[in-house]
Formats: sequence, C-alpha cells, structure tokens
Amino acid sequence: MMEPTQPPLIAPSLLTGNFARLGEDVAAMEAAGADRIHWDVMDGCFVPNLTFGPDIVASTRGATSLPFEAHLMVATPDLLLARWAEAGCGRLIVHAEACTHLHRTLGAINELGLHAGVALNPATPATALRHVLDLIDLVLVMTVNPGFGGQDYISSMECKVAELARTIEASGQGVEIEVDGGISAKTIAGAYLAGARSFVSGSAVYGHPAGKRAAIEEMRAAAQGPNDGDASSTTSPER
Ligand code: DX5
Ligand code: ZN
Repeated sequence: MMEPTQPPLIAPSLLTGNFARLGEDVAAMEAAGADRIHWDVMDGCFVPNLTFGPDIVASTRGATSLPFEAHLMVATPDLLLARWAEAGCGRLIVHAEACTHLHRTLGAINELGLHAGVALNPATPATALRHVLDLIDLVLVMTVNPGFGGQDYISSMECKVAELARTIEASGQGVEIEVDGGISAKTIAGAYLAGARSFVSGSAVYGHPAGKRAAIEEMRAAAQGPNDGDASSTTSPER
C-alpha cells in the first residue's frame, strides 16, 4: 500500500547523456543521490529510436551499486529477458501495447527472479492492468509518447495515476506507480499528489545549471511541496 508521505524516488534516465561515457554517468548519478538507474531500451520498431542493448548495460554494471531498471520499448520483449537479467537489471518493464501475452511475459520475468513492471502509453487505459496486478511491483505511466527525451509533460495523465492508485489500493497489492517523461521540479508535484512515488527524469537532471545533485534534490523537495510530504493536506485529483 502506498504511504502518503513516502519520499519520492528519483530514477535518472541516461537517454540525454553522452553515450560514450555511460559508465561515468551512472557513477555520477549515484554520487548525486539517485535511487536507481532507468535504462531506456529502444529497438527502432516499437518506437522510432534506437538505444542500448544488454551488453552496453552490462558494461556499466560495475560502475555503481544502484539498482537498474530496463524500460523495454521494444516490439518483442520476450526474446531477450534472460540477457537483461545477466546484464544486471533487477526490474524489467515491458509495454502492455507490445505484449500479446502480457500475463505470460510477466510470469517469465518473475521466474527469472526479477521484478516485473508494465508501462502504459498515454492512450492506454489503466484498466489494462486489472488482471495482472499480482504479477508486478511497478506500473510505469508514460507522461510523454515514448521514443525521445526532452518532451513536454502530459499533465492529463495525472487522472490515470489517480485511477491506478485507487485500483491498487483496492487490490491490496504492493504496486508502486512510477511516471516517465517531462518530469522536472515544475511538473513532479502534480504526479506525486496523484499517487506516483517514483519519477524518471532525464533532461531535467542533465540540464540543471547547478548539476545533477541540485536537480535531484530540487525535484524531491518540489514533489512534497511546502507541506514536507503530507500529501493529504493539499488538493489532488480524486484518488
Ligand atoms: C522516453 C523515455 C523517458 C525519457 C525521459 O521514451 O521513456 O525515460 O528518457 O526523459 P525526459 O525526462 O527528458 O522527458
Ligand atoms: Zn523511460
């Protein structure tokens, strides 16, 4: 069950970083106070962009002790599940839109001893998860259409976050809500108040004038606002 005052977890994305120095970047994110690393895996098919394979991720595993989550924006996630486990990812997040047999895919991830998550594109309803909540520990609500960093936050997704928070609460399952896309100190509070507890951020972390640590600390503070985490005392979309 989601604690109203659970501090926000920040998972930086390396998508807008320098791919020639990924090892240094993951170490820098740990030093900056990040909670985990968000790998944006794109296959040029499910999304119109191409990024990292398991070998690239594995090559940075020794540079940090932070957990790795792989956001699989790929058309055939079942093909490489074991390779992502070997690469040191503790959580695999597949897109509901890419999985013909989502229940089977999530079961296969759990059988590898990994945490399973499901990502929902902006147009995909929260109800897509109703029958697999017992197989996952995270839902990733896309607050941009996937494929690129630096896009604008879609605030209308906060209603979907609130609906998911209600469904998860009613189910009694321990599923965390993470949001991804356009997250910065300006946008994080709305998603937090709606019920999200972890936040992917790329361009806001890389682009902050005072550096990565300042970006992460500023987002954490902004999420909980002046009330220091008492989410129930401020207005938010009906949970
Ligand atoms: C987009 C990715 C996001 C993206 C976030 O498809 O899934 O993780 O990298 O980057 P920003 O924070 O710049 O929107
Ligand atoms: Zn992502």
